[in-house]
Parts: sequence; C-alpha cells; structure tokens
Amino acid sequence: MGLSCAAGPGMVMDSRMRSPPRPTLRVVTSPAAMQRQALAWRGQIGFVPTMGALHEGHLELIRRARRDCVRVVVSIYVNPTQFGPKEDLARYPRPRRADLAACRRAGVDLVFAPHNLYAPGHSTYVEEGEVSHGRDGASRPGHFRGVATVVLKLFNLVQPRRAYFGQKDAQQVDVIRRMVRDLDVPVQIVVVPTVRAADGVALSSRNVYLTPAERALAVKFAQAMQDAAREGPRAAVTLTRELRKLRGVKLDYVEVAGGRLCAAVVIGKTRLIDNERVRLGLSRRSMTSR
Ligand code: PAJ
Repeated sequence: MGLSCAAGPGMVMDSRMRSPPRPTLRVVTSPAAMQRQALAWRGQIGFVPTMGALHEGHLELIRRARRDCVRVVVSIYVNPTQFGPKEDLARYPRPRRADLAACRRAGVDLVFAPHNLYAPGHSTYVEEGEVSHGRDGASRPGHFRGVATVVLKLFNLVQPRRAYFGQKDAQQVDVIRRMVRDLDVPVQIVVVPTVRAADGVALSSRNVYLTPAERALAVKFAQAMQDAAREGPRAAVTLTRELRKLRGVKLDYVEVAGGRLCAAVVIGKTRLIDNERVRLGLSRRSMTSR
C-alpha cells in the first residue's frame, strides 16, 4: 500500500494528493533557495541524499520515495567532511549531466546540487558516540562525523517528511537513526534493501574504479559474503578464512553486527563494503552432512 508523505504513515494516498505531471526538473544550487522551496513543500517531501554518480541502487531509493511521497528531492553533494585526507575526494566520479538525466527520467521534482555547504570557519559537527565506533568508524576516522553533520544540514535545508537510505551502508543507517532519535529530528528514516548487479556485486559509485581483473575479485567477495552468511554463527570466521584465500583482496574488517555479516575489503585502490543478513538456520554444509 502506498503511503503519502502528506497523508502521514498508515494513511492511503488520495488521488487528489498525487503530484501533478512534472515535465521539468528543478535544479537548485543555493541553500537559501532550497530552504524556501522546502517551506512551500513542507510535509510532502521524500528525500534521497546522495553523492551522485547515480546507479540503480540510488534509483531504487528514488522509486521508493516517488511511490510514497508527493514531492521527491534528491541531493547531489560530494561531502568533503566525510572523506579522510588520503581518500578519493578529488577523483570521486561527478557525471553531473547523466545524473540530472537519470533524475529527470525517474520523476524527481528537484535536485539540490550545492557547490559548497560549509560556511568559512564552519566549526559545528554532529558526533554520534556509540554506533559510529568500530568497522568503518575505526577504519575511516571522522567519516561518520562528516556524514552525520552533512545529513543533519541537508535535513535542515530540505525539511523532508521521509528520508531514504540504502541497507548497503548499514552502519551509516545506524548512525543516522541514532542521530534522528537522540536529536529529535522530525524525519522518518526508510531503509531500502541493497541493489546488486547480476554478478552479485553490490552497486556502488566506486565500482567504476575497478579494472576487469579487480571486478572479478569483487564478484568473489560478494559470493563469499553470501555463502558465509548461510553459515549462521560461524559466518564471520568462515568469511575471514575465505577472503584470506583471495589474492589481491585486502581484508579490512569482518564482523557480525545487528544480525548482519558486515565486511570491508580493499581491491587495488578501491575500498568496497557489503553486508548480508546472517541466516541462523542450518547451514548447507550441516544439512548435507546429516
Ligand atoms: P552515496 O554513496 O551516494 O549513497 C547514497 C544513498 O544510496 C545511501 O543511502 C546509500 O546507502 C544508498 N546506496 C548506495 N548503493 C546502494 C545499493 N547498491 N543499493 C541500495 N542503496 C544503495 O551514502 C552516501 O552517498 C553519503 O554518505 C550521504 C548519505 C549522501 C551523505 O553524504
């Protein structure tokens, strides 16, 4: 059943509440103009924050927002505060035209693409103090501080009723949920399952960095994740063992958190993360050995 952002959770969308046909896509770069538009659309906005280089994963979030909400706003902003000094901020892909065309096709009402979101001397940050520790928080110091800060800034500018995030970035979802709870942010967080390529690799804007040989390793990483997740309580041990066998795959972390097997690896110069729900039933191996 479709839910309307205007109607509120649990209420069916009335056909009169559906947004009119939208032949044009608005592109807004000024934060002040974004905030003005947000006031006019207040209570109706489904929001998809992104860093661009849009793929089917992002588009699935947009489709969910389109289904649920009268107005859909997508932000495209490569947020510098969530990148470490040695990370890929400068080379992060920025195919702006293709992104806008994809948003237009997907029926997005407005793309917010600011050039810069930080005032000179910006000195206020949001620091979540629990779920942001460990895993990516440990490997990428300051990353979640940058994410939480920009997401709160974006929420303040866009004023969405609902915001859509991908399960692929499981720890990011935990951090955002915690921030929203702790700081009483009036936004409902919707989590969308991970979209994968036909070969099983989780879609990511960073996949464009992979050479064909590295892509083959990414497929093995995804397969190993899926196989290990079926091993129930042994999932993390199994995955660690299998990934160590893959030459060219550097293990960052493997951990079960919140019932999910989570892992990060570096292949070439590209860092990939993925997660799978751990199946707590009998593993294939224990079933066949019975
Ligand atoms: P970005 O990596 O562009 O991702 C934007 C959103 O798309 C995130 O919620 C992410 O989890 C989701 N996403 C990415 N790949 C996905 C996939 N294969 N399936 C489903 N969803 C997927 O995440 C960020 O940007 C930034 O940290 C951001 C939240 C925009 C703050 O800067």
